[in-house]
Amino acid sequence: MVVLISGRGSNMQAMVEAGLPVAAVISNRADAAGLAYAAGRGIATSVVPHRDYATREAFDAALAQAIDAFSPALVALAGFMRILTEDFVLRYQGRMLNIHPSLLPAFTGLDTHARALAAGVKLHGCTVHFVTAQLDHGPIVMQAAVPVLAQDDEAALAARVLKQEHRIYPQAARWFLEGKLVIEGGVVRVKGDHPQQLYAP
Ligand code: GRF
Repeated sequence: MVVLISGRGSNMQAMVEAGLPVAAVISNRADAAGLAYAAGRGIATSVVPHRDYATREAFDAALAQAIDAFSPALVALAGFMRILTEDFVLRYQGRMLNIHPSLLPAFTGLDTHARALAAGVKLHGCTVHFVTAQLDHGPIVMQAAVPVLAQDDEAALAARVLKQEHRIYPQAARWFLEGKLVIEGGVVRVKGDHPQQLYAP
């Protein structure tokens, strides 16, 4: 698998530590902290700086070339902060996953934790989904829910959710690589008896 990051890369790290076969880590930013971790683990890294490309199409073409050099079975977006073109998404359709820090379809987009607090939801969480052309949509593989506590601020809530991201993303990626995920009518099922939800009180 190839993992795309833009920053910290803690989800990528969780996948490596879970023993998943991460062949390469690619970032659109040279200063992404996760690159050093990957390099330290002997994993190939590369940077495709989005600022070097005049258009999204040109950037996505360069990114696809960097990814395809590793012929991955799975592309995992892990805090990769670029909107992808439809062509790019179609190229990896059915073999590209993303993790989003909310219980989709609630709170697509950015600032999910602040928006969850402002909405007063009592449960929040994270979602692993297949990537489709519509941002933060796409068939849901697994979700983890956490309680929202009265004293929570954005940082406390984000930390509680992130801990669960590190549990569900490696699990979902493993299921994919084991050929256990089936998409039927936009709904993902896991072959065998595997719970696709987690509640972490
Ligand atoms: C995570 O919260 C992820 O859900 C979101 O961006 C953040 C990335 O964190 N898409 P990290 O780079 O994996 O530490």
